[in-house]
Amino acid sequence: MKRNFLMGAAALASLATLSACGGAAGDKAAAPAAEATTAAVETPAVETPAAEPAATMEFASMTTDAAAGEKVFALCRSCHVLDEGVNRVGPSLYNVVGRPSGSVAGYSYSDANKASGVTWTTDVLFTYLKDPKGFMPGTKMAFPGIKDDQDRANLVAYLESTKK
Ligand code: HEC
Repeated sequence: MKRNFLMGAAALASLATLSACGGAAGDKAAAPAAEATTAAVETPAVETPAAEPAATMEFASMTTDAAAGEKVFALCRSCHVLDEGVNRVGPSLYNVVGRPSGSVAGYSYSDANKASGVTWTTDVLFTYLKDPKGFMPGTKMAFPGIKDDQDRANLVAYLESTKK
């Protein structure tokens, strides 16, 4: 069995060459090659456990609680307020959901933030706030991020709920 497989694999690897030449050598290769193809299909099927969904989680897939998110916003208040035109250490977060990055008048952004080309949709905020410097290298926002997905989703839902 094992030997057959190896022969088949070798035949498969050279199949292109053989069939280009045609003739008896090509015919001989055809049978073991079919066997090798079966083995090759089965092998990855065994090696494919569902192992990586959490990393790609999106805001839209979360159940959120905006009232709980208002409490999480306490982490932002030392630098941000939600009032229009009021910039502190960070820019006003008035209507931040849906806003293009770096667009608050009178706030002195870093080049990284200003030139990011990002729009602060709920999904983008959800990703950014997990690891701001990882998402936007060079940002001057000195905040390590909120690692808990539920807390972060609640916060984003709260920001969305403040939209006027
Ligand atoms: C230590 C101060 C500080 C804290 C705490 C902080 N930020 Fe910031 N934030 C900033 C600064 C400074 C900037 C401007 C970044 C730049 O220009 O690179 C910023 C930028 C932002 C931006 C981009 C705004 C825009 O107009 O492009 C968003 C969104 C944001 N912060 C959200 C938050 C949220 C939500 C929290 C709480 C979880 C938070 N920040 C906590 C200082 C802070």
